[in-house]
Amino acid sequence: MAHSSDLIGADIEQYLKAHEHKGLLRFITCGSVDDGKSTLIGRLLFESKLLFEDQLAAIEADSKKYGTQGGEMDFALLVDGLAAEREQGITIDVAYRFFSTDKRKFIVADTPGHEQYTRNMVTGASNADAAILMVDARHGILTQTRRHSFLMSLIGMRQVVVAINKMDLVDYSKERFEEIAEAYRTFAKQLGLESITFIPMSALKGDNVIEHGHHMPWYHGPTLMAYLETVEVDDERLQRDPFRLPVQWVNRPNLDFRGFTGMVTSGTVKPGDAIRVQPSGKTSTVSRIYTFDGDLDQAVAGQSITLLLDDEIDISRGDVISGVEQPAEIADQFETTLVWMHEQPLLPGRPYLMKLATQTVTATVSEIKYQVNVNTLEHAAAKQLDLNDIGVGTLSLNRPVAFDPYRESQDTGGFILIDRMTHNTVGAGMLHFALRRSQNIHRQHVDIDKQARSLSKAQQPAVLWFTGLSGAGKSTIANLVEKKLHAAGQHTYLLDGDNVRHGLNRDLGFTDADRVENIRRVGEVAKLMVDAGLIVLTAFISPFRSERDLARNLVEEHEFIEIFVDTPLEVAEERDTKGLYRKARRGELKNFTGIDSAYEAPMAPDLHIRTIDMSSEDAADAIIALLRERQIVA
Ligand code: ADX
Repeated sequence: MAHSSDLIGADIEQYLKAHEHKGLLRFITCGSVDDGKSTLIGRLLFESKLLFEDQLAAIEADSKKYGTQGGEMDFALLVDGLAAEREQGITIDVAYRFFSTDKRKFIVADTPGHEQYTRNMVTGASNADAAILMVDARHGILTQTRRHSFLMSLIGMRQVVVAINKMDLVDYSKERFEEIAEAYRTFAKQLGLESITFIPMSALKGDNVIEHGHHMPWYHGPTLMAYLETVEVDDERLQRDPFRLPVQWVNRPNLDFRGFTGMVTSGTVKPGDAIRVQPSGKTSTVSRIYTFDGDLDQAVAGQSITLLLDDEIDISRGDVISGVEQPAEIADQFETTLVWMHEQPLLPGRPYLMKLATQTVTATVSEIKYQVNVNTLEHAAAKQLDLNDIGVGTLSLNRPVAFDPYRESQDTGGFILIDRMTHNTVGAGMLHFALRRSQNIHRQHVDIDKQARSLSKAQQPAVLWFTGLSGAGKSTIANLVEKKLHAAGQHTYLLDGDNVRHGLNRDLGFTDADRVENIRRVGEVAKLMVDAGLIVLTAFISPFRSERDLARNLVEEHEFIEIFVDTPLEVAEERDTKGLYRKARRGELKNFTGIDSAYEAPMAPDLHIRTIDMSSEDAADAIIALLRERQIVA
């Protein structure tokens, strides 16, 4: 078998040009640590020709320089797997290697096998066409094999090679090979893994890697390389799927028309095709397909294009353009699988940014149904997901999005979750199906609205959100403010942590997850009270910025006033009015704020009250003054 020419070393650009019409196969290798992955990769690279990592870096730099449009797509194609993950801010410990034969180019991602690398496995595998699962012929199927198989089924890997390696150490035994293959088949059936190819091999000696060798004449299947050179790549399959173009940006290639730019994630499109834009549902017809290299008669999955339409319809970044026949679905509540990728756990009720194709929305996990033990596949109840945990739950969005179920499209059904404060990628997931609930519960229109209710009370409704450590003085100050407002004839209500926790929230404790839910409920109640026209005062520690922001976003911007009651921990602890700090220090009270549970101070509160410099009475006056200034009270 002839492998790539010496052009690689001499001139990568020229080499890539010469090979740009060869298909690219992305695959991953996984398996237990000692199953021989490195030996195998070494052999593949050795037998073909590798692009060294610094050369790969050079290609990547080029693709950055040129952008990922039009003519430079061949560069982008090579590295978009890498670039995409970089853009998403995921630091991955997956090693990528590039090599090629005369038939194909290959990118192989080597994913470390340990349990704590679940996320690497998922990120490395999420855009792979095939996976090679290494099994040591002496050991057969191990926990690690099962875990990786589960992850592969999860991310929808369509083509799996089980490479039964180290056959030289079991005397090239056909019986041993068949025994392992049979056991794996039985296991894989539970997971719904479809296309599995078993290859007996010795990566060390080379049998069945590139050539068949002479040790296993009983094996008549393909060598690994023959498999890799002929297995269907996703791009080929994707062309048969319905047309999807998630709009990356809206632009004007010239002044006469507007164009909608993005990558075709599946299907094909031609001028004259009828399209539907989701979620708006508007329809039009394709008039031109524009690229840097000139117009196209047809565009296919994997190409970046600018679509021009017959009508001037309103389309924005994030919309998905589909063929009219089989458009993307629209929903705002989903059943999903989530893979958590951050040290800070996933907490139900906490808002995250969700990136689904080119759409960005706010998402909360409303319920975790169960967590999956990746080693045994057993389900367990869970209140939160920790690093590398995988769970199934309900995801609610702040507005409907266009999507496809993940098993039909990874591009429009796979998403990542981003922390709103740090912008780190914290999770990834798959949309399984839409929950119809939100479509069936319509909001009831009422004639008497917030304005009518507040007019009759002659006041502007608002939330005075007090936050601070336990014992900081929130309740004391809030109580004083309420008395003053009441004396002035205002209609008020004080929601206080200690009281609400005896009723509405008596099922909640002090874990991070419970505090998130505590504040979510309080935020919703405050919102109802604002709608009733009241001035609501809330006195909760509310230790996390995310949930305070969530509460803020539930009402109008001008209706929310965040008051930071700032008492240094030493002072609050010194006062210790309820004796709780002493208890916490003795270890009798777990998760105590400031001791062994976090307090995230507001970065820009509407009012910052330093209780060591100010009496409660003065603090209350300062708050009333602010309410006057904001024209909430006269
Ligand atoms: S929050 O963190 O979820 O906002 P919240 O304000 O409702 O807390 O309740 C705090 C009050 O509960 C404290 O003032 C204190 O009296 C009591 N408490 C009991 N256990 C804890 C704890 N582990 N951490 C903080 N406060 C606690």
